[in-house]
Order: sequence, then C-alpha cells, then structure tokens
Amino acid sequence: MNVQEFIDAHKDEFLNELFDFLRIPSVSTDSSRKDQIEAAANFLVGQLESIKLNRVERFETPGHPIVYGEHCPYNNRPTVLVYGHYDVQPSDPDHLWDTPAFEPTVKDGKIYARGASDDKGQSFTHVKALQSLLATDGALPVNVKILLEGEEEIGSPNLVPFLESHAEMLACDMVLISDTSMFGLDQPSITFGLRGLAYMEVEVVGPNRDLHSGVYGGAVENPLNVLCEIIAKLKDEHGVIQIPGFYDKVQPLSSEDRQAMAELPFDEEAYKASLNVNALHGEHGYTTLERASARPTLDVNGIWGGYQGEGAKTVLPSKANAKISMRLVPHQDPKEIAALFKQYVESLAPDTVKITVEEHHGGHASRTDLGFYGLKAAAQAFEDVYQTQVLFSMEGGSIPIVADFKRVLGSESILMGFGVTSDAIHSPNESFHIKDFYRGIKTSARFFQILAEQQHS
Ligand code: BES
Ligand code: MN
Ligand code: MN
Repeated sequence: MNVQEFIDAHKDEFLNELFDFLRIPSVSTDSSRKDQIEAAANFLVGQLESIKLNRVERFETPGHPIVYGEHCPYNNRPTVLVYGHYDVQPSDPDHLWDTPAFEPTVKDGKIYARGASDDKGQSFTHVKALQSLLATDGALPVNVKILLEGEEEIGSPNLVPFLESHAEMLACDMVLISDTSMFGLDQPSITFGLRGLAYMEVEVVGPNRDLHSGVYGGAVENPLNVLCEIIAKLKDEHGVIQIPGFYDKVQPLSSEDRQAMAELPFDEEAYKASLNVNALHGEHGYTTLERASARPTLDVNGIWGGYQGEGAKTVLPSKANAKISMRLVPHQDPKEIAALFKQYVESLAPDTVKITVEEHHGGHASRTDLGFYGLKAAAQAFEDVYQTQVLFSMEGGSIPIVADFKRVLGSESILMGFGVTSDAIHSPNESFHIKDFYRGIKTSARFFQILAEQQHS
C-alpha cells in the first residue's frame, strides 16, 4: 500500500482522532482550563508516541507545555521542522454557536468546532502525514522534527526563550506551518507574508465615582468622551494613522508586489457579499488585498465603560477603556510602535483625566523569500494533490514566531495553509472542510516525498 492509499484507507480513523483532539477545550488564555491544556498536550504526546517517532518529549515551561518529536535518521537529507499550536481561542460568545464549540459536528462537509481550522485541524494533518509515511513502505524520506505549542493564541511568551535555549535541537533547513488560509476554496496558495502586531490597552480615569449626568454633566470631564476623542485622532479621514513616526520604517509597496497582488483572482463583490456589507473601507490609494495584507492598520478591538444595561441610566462614568490593535509590516518594530502609540495617546489626554497605556503581546511581520527551494516542493505537493496551480499571496494575520524562526534558527518558513477565510477562525461556528483535512494530509506527505526526490535528482 502506498502512502496516498494508506491515507484513504484510514480516513474515518483520522477524522475520529481529530474529533477527540477537538473535544479538549484547550483555551490558553483561560487559567481555569489548565487541565485541558494538559490534556491536549498529553493527547499529542500519545499521538507522536503511537506513530513511532524516534524521540518524543514534553517540555515544561513557566506556562503551557511544548510537545516535541523527531525522526531524523538521515545524515545527508534535509530536516524539516513542523510547527503548530494546540491551544485555541475562547469559544465565547457561546450562544452564537449553532452547535457546541467543543462538540465537533459535521455539517455540509465541514467540521464545526473551536480549533477545527486554527490550528488543531490544520496542524494534525502533519501528524497524520508522518504516521502514514512511517506506516508504509515509502517510509519517512526526510528528517522531521515537530514542535507543537500551547501558547500561540496568547503571544507565545515561552516559545521564544525555548527556541533560544534549544536552537541546536531545533536546527533545521526549513519550517513547515499550516496555520494560514488558502486563497479560496479549492485554490491552494502559499502565504509568503504575514503581518506583525502591537496590541494596546488604554484606560482613562476621571472622577472618583460614577456621577449623576444631570448634576455633574457639563462641569466634570467624561472619560468616555475623552476616550472617543482620542480614538478619533488615531486615524484621519483617509484611513492614515496619525501616530507620529508610525510609518517611518514602512517600505512602500514595490510595483512588482502590487502587480502580483492585482493579478490574484480576488472577487471583491463576493467578498462583500460574504460579509454582508455594502461597501468596503480602508486606507486611500490601496486595494482591498493590499489593505488586508500588505499595509499596516489600527483598529479598536473592544471599548467599554459606563452604563450598558437595559433602558437608560443617567450616569457619567468614572472610567473608560479600550483595546486597540495595530497590524504591522516588515521593519516596523512592535516595541517601538507600542512606545510611539503610548507617547501620542498620552499627548492627546487633557489634564482633566488620568490615562494609562499598557502594552500586550505583539510580534514582528515576516516574509518568506520567494526564491527559497523549499517553496518549490511545497508548490509541487499542492499541485499534485489539488490538481491546480498554486498561488502565492500575503495575509494580514500574525504568527510572530515565524520571524523568530528566521532570527534564531536562520530558517525560512513555508506557510502551507489548508484553511479558507470563511472558516471563521476566532469566531462562533469555526469550521474546517473535511476534504481539506484529507487533502492537507496528502499534501504534507507529498511534500516530504518531493523534498527527498528533489535532493536526489
Ligand atoms: N493562525 C492565526 C494567524 C493567521 C490566521 C494567519 C489566518 C494568517 C491567516 C493565529 O493563530 C493567530 O490567531 N494569531 C494572532 C496573533 C497572536 C499573537 C495572538 C492574530 O493574528 O491575531
Ligand atoms: Mn493559528
Ligand atoms: Mn488564532
């Protein structure tokens, strides 16, 4: 039996195992779910042990465990480091899920569950590909290391130090990651650019208590009004970010990049329809794809304060808060951008309030060199399985560890996503096409084979 036949013969088993994985609510940000994080890590250790890798280890960190395995029998063949994450985003708001987030359900050819696409379903394709290669005559033809972390959704605070302290163990010729999206349904693509991130929290404090808005209103500063005024000054009417120095290190898009993006088969009408919006919005002078992947952005992610209950309560709130994210492009430093944001926001605050600006996790943008030889094997693997030409595109999301793989290990990352943007990652009713779970396994297995063949030819 060859590898592809083995995969076909084990479809149901693989899907059931993925379901077991998805049933574990491994929400990394939720400290009450520590046991579930443990359970997910142990599930993966069990998986890697059962497929008979040469080495399987669970590494403890000050946070959640790192699961590691390797099978490196060859002296003169490439070494691929597979990276993925077993932690997931919280499922809330739970009432908007049609079926419970941690009870995987199949509907219309899709698996519905938190983590189905991001990233349990996608990362599991590689575990099953390794299993399939190791179980058949084809054998695993290259050296493979696999690193699965439980803190990606909280900014990988312990993975960077781990990379630095285990650089020798993790040494590789390339990193393989399935945690991105394809360009569209049945349209595989390799993501060669990801944005970075700086995430901020602002608190504006006014009077020492909530006040009667009639008794005090008009005479005492309202922190919610102040917060809104500050936010209104972060961008101008053309969508240009107003933080001094924000664009200093941003490289203009090259005409080649713009040309390549313009040639991608992007359907703006379908995009609008899928979001149920009449019109799109963004920085003047740029296309939708450019705005969503190649230009930096600033967005309010949450804002609160004051009365939010039923009816009208006449109150002047004593404080107001907002969470604001900035997506970054190459050469922008998240720490520097956070400092510029803080400076600007503080400069906008009147002396009637106290303002604090706090920085959450962030990360650098990344670019994979399009001439990198590993991309050829990845493109060929996609084409063999999907029977269509692969596209190369950039995406707006962030996987900060990609920049660290480059910096610490000197390795390029191949972003071989099997998801689609309509998977609704981080949202209610997250899903993953079952078909792409299987094609993902096959593509991963093909990739390892092609990489070995390339080298021998
Ligand atoms: N897998 C996503 C990133 C992603 C999604 C990249 C789709 C490209 C396309 C990842 O799990 C994620 O959610 N990253 C966070 C950043 C992280 C520091 C919390 C993000 O992009 O918000
Ligand atoms: Mn992810
Ligand atoms: Mn995510």
